[in-house]
Amino acid sequence: TKGVITIDPGYKNTGSCESAITFLDGEKGILRYRGYNIEDLADKVDFLEVAYLLIFGELPTKEQNDKFHDDIKAESAVDEDVKKILDAFPKAAHPMGVISSLTSALTAFNPSSVDVSSEAEMYKSVVRILGKMPVLVAWTMRKKQGQPLDYGDNTLGYVENLLKMMFSRPNSCYVQNPVLVNALDKLLILHADHEQNCSTSTVRIVGSSHAGLFASLSAGISALWGPLHGGANQAVIEMLEAIQADGGDTKKYMEKAKDKNDPFRLMGFGHRVYKNFDPRARIIKKAADQVLHDLGIEDPILDIAKGLEKEALEDKYFVDRKLYPNVDFYSGIIYRAMGIPTEMFTVMFAIGRLPGWIAQWREMRLKKEPIGRPRQIYVGATQRAFVPVEDRK
Ligand code: SDX
Repeated sequence: TKGVITIDPGYKNTGSCESAITFLDGEKGILRYRGYNIEDLADKVDFLEVAYLLIFGELPTKEQNDKFHDDIKAESAVDEDVKKILDAFPKAAHPMGVISSLTSALTAFNPSSVDVSSEAEMYKSVVRILGKMPVLVAWTMRKKQGQPLDYGDNTLGYVENLLKMMFSRPNSCYVQNPVLVNALDKLLILHADHEQNCSTSTVRIVGSSHAGLFASLSAGISALWGPLHGGANQAVIEMLEAIQADGGDTKKYMEKAKDKNDPFRLMGFGHRVYKNFDPRARIIKKAADQVLHDLGIEDPILDIAKGLEKEALEDKYFVDRKLYPNVDFYSGIIYRAMGIPTEMFTVMFAIGRLPGWIAQWREMRLKKEPIGRPRQIYVGATQRAFVPVEDRK
């Protein structure tokens, strides 16, 4: 209502927009992209087809799908100058900081702050970022590992090529593992969009100033980095490793998580919207079991995770607060089984979330939403007379 300002920390009860992209039902654990259930999409199509659906609103025809895949491959070349930017980062730089910088640097290679009303312009920017991101991710990881950069192989599928660029080695022949390709494709689909989460709201508000698409995506990557958001997948594994190092005493960590005076939270548990279960966690948990079984990996970390989940689901504190495993609880276990370094986990989340961020940015700009500029209730000092520095105590 006009003139009355309501403060709503974390926007827990504030709607920021109308959107036709993703539907969540937190009570029933429903997640749909453009009306299609996530369970169907995760089973029946690949990540790029889901990206097309989210961004352009419809599942592509065979021709559209083939052209989209080909156009993305055609954009997988990365300007050699990017290597100079990579060289400038200290080895200790966190991959999320590197990727966020490289993404905004792409604006320099693509000056047009895309004319969003032009479908052709938008399409060009979409295939550009989807084509280049896997290379930037793989190069960032290999740079950190002191490995030579791999340019990939466009005869491979999108996820196959990403894994090859990440894991090929000059002195050995790289062998694709279809179990890992399938699991990663599914993970990227499950991370593709999630309505107005923290990083998507960031992309929208940055884009509302008419900052370019790549600059807005770069801001989204930074928001995703936080351990309460996308950074949780890295924090989950670090938590499980700490519990393992501490003798696997899950009960002790459950008590810590419930102790108001202890900042420790059970990472991978809880969600602002899902109050019964996160449908993505269900699918990812099954995929984690499958990957570890097919790879013959006995990962004690998974046993600790299952022990924590069992205890939390029976614990009054968690049940009363409707805290269940979320998308980040099991995804790290699959990334770890793939041999992806823990510091790269949130980068994998960012690759998956790209289509959602792009779709939401495009929807916001096409609807000509006003620049985001909330108000406040001022609670600071009332007017005071100036005090020259010599008179200050
Ligand atoms: C993602 O928004 C999205 O859609 C995000 C995401 C996406 O796809 O974009 O789904 C991806 O970010 C998943 C969430 C990943 N984060 C974590 O796993 C970090 C641990 N989770 C929590 O920090 C928390 O549950 C949040 C951040 C996910 C949600 O926080 P809320 O909705 O602001 O809830 P809250 O902090 O107000 O907590 C409510 C109560 C509090 O207790 P009381 O003060 O009422 O006594 O639940 C407690 C909290 O202390 N609580 C937890 C807890 N999460 C909430 N206690 C222990 N461990 C936890 N994990």
